[in-house]
Amino acid sequence: MRLGEFSWEHPVFLAPMAGVTDLPFRLLCKEQGCDGMCTEMVSAKALYYRSKNTRTLLQTEPSERPMAVQLFGSDPELMAEMAASLEEQFDFIDVNMGCPVPKVVNNGEGSALMKDPPLVSRIVEAMARRLKKPLTVKIRAGFDGGSRNAAEIARRIEAAGGAAVAVHGRTREQYYSGRADWEVIRQVKEAVSIPVIGNGDIFSGEDAARMIRETGCDGVMAARGAKGNPWLFREIQAALAGEPIPPRPSVGEIRDTVLRHSRLLIQYKGEYTAMREMRKHLAWYTAGFPHSSALRGRANQVETMADLLALLEEFF
Ligand SMILES: Cc1cc2nc3c(=O)[nH]c(=O)nc-3n(C[C@H](O)[C@H](O)[C@H](O)COP(=O)(O)O)c2cc1C
Repeated sequence: MRLGEFSWEHPVFLAPMAGVTDLPFRLLCKEQGCDGMCTEMVSAKALYYRSKNTRTLLQTEPSERPMAVQLFGSDPELMAEMAASLEEQFDFIDVNMGCPVPKVVNNGEGSALMKDPPLVSRIVEAMARRLKKPLTVKIRAGFDGGSRNAAEIARRIEAAGGAAVAVHGRTREQYYSGRADWEVIRQVKEAVSIPVIGNGDIFSGEDAARMIRETGCDGVMAARGAKGNPWLFREIQAALAGEPIPPRPSVGEIRDTVLRHSRLLIQYKGEYTAMREMRKHLAWYTAGFPHSSALRGRANQVETMADLLALLEEFF
């Protein structure tokens, strides 16, 4: 598939996850073969008011490219204006039409947009008109079981100038529960001729290969499967190339990655924030290890890099 100046056979993307896919984590995924990444979701309104937190969300490095920024909002003109202000810094602009969180949905943003197809058209039109770079949109299967309108929404996105659509095969009502419905990804693929990126429940290389086989999607996007597991990308790339799947990371490799992740976090966010954020990553990296619940308990008390090194010494 093609997107602007980039082309791939079947690209493997890291899905945006607020609170997870920040710059340090993305750098680790990139090293493991991820083809394209996205910032965590950024509010168009917050961007307009230049909030400090938003500036942190927008941090990128050239080595991450191709790189997208994801905006959420519902005002077509503001979305277009903010997208245009970021166009130089990013390769693609993505719009969030999938976020299920009440604070966002109650504002008519995120997945709430799927309840208002004409507004979807107006947002995409206004943005595509202002942008030279490709505009992509991330949607869900629908808002709830009674309105699984992903194919209709995707058709509108295409007609309004969207360059690709990513589909998470769950409704807003489902949040992240149950199994993602890949049939809806297949329906979207049949409905439009722009590239379709499938998302939902890719936890292994084989899952990604099966999603492409079963839905015909052009690319795949993984989210939760990558938490504490940037190696997912090398496994997916091997599966898609028909090569043997690399072995799971050794304990030493996990330990080295935890250290690199911590140092990158310190570099970009300072030790205080880095150590607090590292606690959850450490729990994901070590899930399933013997004594992992004891380690999690201790990880929650880590305040400094020295604490973390002592903990790693003891557990690895
Ligand atoms: C903690 C968390 C944060 C998320 N944040 C975002 C976000 O900022 N933007 C977005 O479009 N989707 C967000 N998502 C949804 C994921 O991108 C993805 O669509 C969903 O998790 C399904 O993929 P998976 O089954 O591979 O996890 C988030 C999901 C999780 C679990």
